[in-house]
Amino acid sequence: MAAALSWEVRDAIAVVTVDLPGEPVNKLTRAVQEEFIAALETLGRDPEVRGVALFSGKRDAFIAGADIAEFVAVTSAAEAERLSAGGQDMLERVARFAKPIAVGIHGACLGGGLELALACHYRVATDHPKTELGLPEVQLGILPGAGGCERLPRLLGARAALDLILTGRSERGTRAWRVGLVDELVPPSILRDVTLAAARRMADGWRPRRRRRGGVLGWILDGTPLGRRLVYRAARRRVLATTHGNYPAPLAALDAVAYGLRHGFAAGLKHEAQLFGQLAVTDVSRKLVQIFFATTQLKKDFGIREPPPPRDVRRLGVVGAGFMGAGIAGTAAAQAGVDVRMKDADLPRVAQGLLAARAIVDERLRRRRITRFEHTRLVALLSGDARYGGFGRADLVVEAVFEDLAVKQQVLREIEEVTPEGAVFASNTSTIPIARIAQAARRPERVIGMHFFSPVARMPLLEVIPSEHTAPEVVSTAVAFGRRMGKTAVVVRDHPGFWVNRILAPYMNEAAHLLAEGVAVAELDRLMVAWGFPVGPITLLDEVGLDVAEKAAGVLQAAFGDRLAAAPAFAVLVKEGRLGRKAGRGFYRYVAGKKRGVDPAISELLGVQPNGGPRAAEIIQRLVLVMLNEAARAVGEGVVRTPRDGDLAAIFGFGFPPFRGGPLRHADDLGAARLVDELARLAERLGARFAPCDTLAEQARSGAKFYP
Ligand code: 3HC
Repeated sequence: MAAALSWEVRDAIAVVTVDLPGEPVNKLTRAVQEEFIAALETLGRDPEVRGVALFSGKRDAFIAGADIAEFVAVTSAAEAERLSAGGQDMLERVARFAKPIAVGIHGACLGGGLELALACHYRVATDHPKTELGLPEVQLGILPGAGGCERLPRLLGARAALDLILTGRSERGTRAWRVGLVDELVPPSILRDVTLAAARRMADGWRPRRRRRGGVLGWILDGTPLGRRLVYRAARRRVLATTHGNYPAPLAALDAVAYGLRHGFAAGLKHEAQLFGQLAVTDVSRKLVQIFFATTQLKKDFGIREPPPPRDVRRLGVVGAGFMGAGIAGTAAAQAGVDVRMKDADLPRVAQGLLAARAIVDERLRRRRITRFEHTRLVALLSGDARYGGFGRADLVVEAVFEDLAVKQQVLREIEEVTPEGAVFASNTSTIPIARIAQAARRPERVIGMHFFSPVARMPLLEVIPSEHTAPEVVSTAVAFGRRMGKTAVVVRDHPGFWVNRILAPYMNEAAHLLAEGVAVAELDRLMVAWGFPVGPITLLDEVGLDVAEKAAGVLQAAFGDRLAAAPAFAVLVKEGRLGRKAGRGFYRYVAGKKRGVDPAISELLGVQPNGGPRAAEIIQRLVLVMLNEAARAVGEGVVRTPRDGDLAAIFGFGFPPFRGGPLRHADDLGAARLVDELARLAERLGARFAPCDTLAEQARSGAKFYP
């Protein structure tokens, strides 16, 4: 295999380039590590070389870390520990190299890539948006295993290091420089020169002086054993509050950092490698890695065979300036940088929508994701009207009007009148079949569903729903544009409820049944959060809106019968105007947008006092199995093309616990035979809504699974 490392010596500085042949990103494979070691030996011996400047040969990527495919192939903790120790050994050689090494970072510098940069003696990064530095290992269920748990706290202090390691968050160049992760921040055009100059200065004896900020308090917290104990305790509390003990990696990483700072660098490395070994073979890590690879696969998948190239969308029309419309408009401007024209019935509504859309762009500035200059440019992309002015040049129009077939068909007719022949019409319906909407179309082949989730700026999923008449180019266009908006796009079948609402409905309904049986609202939510969901089912109902949930349930009941009949609780709350967060009251109370605990009036409204209800295990079993059963049934009906799509959509759509791999992966883990057995028993006791579906029954008979 061709070498990944090459170098040339310029004015006594070896300019080393890492460029893994045939791969889109650089990875620190075992082979690359060996090359590094050999290169260091050669350069160390070369009397002409006084320093090293290290760069990536990839256009917009530095090094994406260790090769994930390599560590998932290991079968024992001992083997994974050796892998980690090997990486540490290589980076120790870098850190101890007798000649100074400066590194120039442009593009993703993640995991082992950042650990390598940390071992170098000087770091220069570009201020380009593609440059991000971080240790995302906990997101793969492992910890930084090439010395990251040792070097980062020594560079930044325990608090700042833990903040990065325990969240797996990455930082853009500017912030990385501000927190001290890199020594210099430069525009890409001068990265090479500045890095070379640093290597040269160091070769002449200059050493960087790094001062940590934070004052006396910072010194106490990071610099004294007592202060650090407080830091660890707070970090542990934060981890448990978000992971509920379901993810072992962050706690292990905390242990690695604390151990290393207490017992010294060498002992710390050893402990780090041991913990890495243990984590790498856990089921949680395997699941998270599967999700990583599934997500990268999906990025390239347009959901149809031989997808034609997408239409280039430069101008977007958005009809309906309500919460969803504004979310779509703002996200499209902020993420995709397209010209957005909003339209609603009257100007005050349009103005409201524009304000809400602009707030999304403002938020990017507040979070320093964009510069002031970019902000001004993006805000200028947003415009609106009470008529269809500007739609004559739209490439794509998304409607987000009231969820009513007649209204949507009317909008479609109007849009077809004003847009060019080739424009795409996308409906953001959450329940109405696209084919029904398209019945009103003159160009049904240009009609598609783009189902965004609320709030659009934050929710990562997009369901793309072609009808049987939709042209392949329209599918590619919707998927490609969804991706430009930063969404994970999954193509699903035009079937009532599509995928996400279809499998959520029975889960929500079951939650309402459980409330009626006397389970307390807060207890129900608590149990499902502990099981791994980001919020419990009742909080989710409040977020989605009780009216929306009731409407969706109505559509699903009409399509699938009583199995998906809405529990009566929805109607009771909707009648009372308790629509959820947006109304300031639902099951919970909201004051100035903040959730304030369960409303005591709920028990009376539902006519049941909380009495504990069934056992906790049964509550979880009912909620989970009813969803898995519906998911399996929908797979049988071809709603998603692959189990991968179904699992990713559930994870990104409503936060199905990633460490369980998704509903279909979880069904495989439990086994169809066991599922069928448990569902049958629940059906006997509680009703036909639990009757095991044909797909699971067939799997139980044949021993088949969703995944090979
Ligand atoms: N290992 C193996 N494959 C990787 C990889 C890695 N670390 N990083 C990226 N890839 C692969 C992807 O699977 C994809 O493969 P494919 O072309 O065969 O489908 C290809 O590289 C391109 O990746 P993307 O499609 O994701 O490209 P993007 O440009 O969208 O994103 C990226 C690039 C930001 C680097 C993103 O790929 C990413 O986040 N990678 C993972 C980073 C990571 O988690 N690193 C930590 C690794 S673990 C580690 O370092 C342990 C150490 O502490 C010992």
